[in-house]
Amino acid sequence: MSSTPPEKKPARADLDSTLRPDNWEEYIGQIHTKENLKISIEAAKGRGELPEHLLFYGPPGVGKTTLAYIIANELNAPIRVTSGVAVERAGDLAAILTNLEPGDILFIDEIHQLSKKVEELLYPALEAGRLDIILGKGPSARTVQLDLPPFTLVGATTRIAQVSSPLRSRFGGGVHQLDLYTDDEIATIISRSAKLLKFSVPGDVLQIIAQRSRSTPRTANYLLKRFRDYVSVQKKNPDIPLFAEASTLFGIDDKGLNKDDRKYLKVLIETFRGGPVGSKTLATALGEEVSTLEDLYEPYLIRLGFIERTTRGRIATQRAYEHMGL
Ligand code: ADE
Repeated sequence: MSSTPPEKKPARADLDSTLRPDNWEEYIGQIHTKENLKISIEAAKGRGELPEHLLFYGPPGVGKTTLAYIIANELNAPIRVTSGVAVERAGDLAAILTNLEPGDILFIDEIHQLSKKVEELLYPALEAGRLDIILGKGPSARTVQLDLPPFTLVGATTRIAQVSSPLRSRFGGGVHQLDLYTDDEIATIISRSAKLLKFSVPGDVLQIIAQRSRSTPRTANYLLKRFRDYVSVQKKNPDIPLFAEASTLFGIDDKGLNKDDRKYLKVLIETFRGGPVGSKTLATALGEEVSTLEDLYEPYLIRLGFIERTTRGRIATQRAYEHMGL
């Protein structure tokens, strides 16, 4: 089945975006990336040009999509959103590119999932604003070149190692890494969210929510919204004990670990005596893909100092044993 062309959205539309900042001032943290991007965008705007193509990478939920929306907003440009899996065939990409309007931002999430064929079609589009279409097969095949409207591609990925170097090298505006956030940054982010949700939460509770957010705005906003539901149903004060009660119900412990994170640590500690154990073996024992361990579980467990990735495999640290009470 052919995928549908990406929906054209104003820079702020879907439900999720109620909490999404739409300007640089409201975008907290990632200071280095933010300063670099602000300069590139301002400079391009000043010259009346489009910014060069940009690639963002980092763990899920750290604000890659949010940045793409801010850039579109700063440029007053519409953003078209799609993802590596949605663009299945070369024809899908051709449809997307030929439907762009001059100045559009094209956002491709999880860009490492593009197939080789699609990727190869993308190269001349990024480099020369040109689409090379092959008509026919065999000796009579010929290439037709189509000029595309000028656009800026913003790519995002959780797996930078899987983005081929020819693709990476075509992001002239740079390859930018986004990191996990500090608790103070998260507390600032959800303090703004709480205001937008008209949910009055004391600062000390925001700090505790931040500590349990896996250092990502996505999880922090999720917890804030679930806590708002809990408070309104329980009709109680949104204080620290009530949040502790609510997070037990959500299955989240005082370090922000959910049942899957705890299962990871339990299997690593009990089945493999704390490691070292190879990622494939560990993934099989957990019934997960290696990529899920690497993208979803491990960045935060490493940040907490609960596990280490070594050449011989994964190791649980003393802290992990203490936290798990094992
Ligand atoms: N939502 C997602 N990422 C954010 C950030 N860096 N600042 C504020 N809100 C966000």
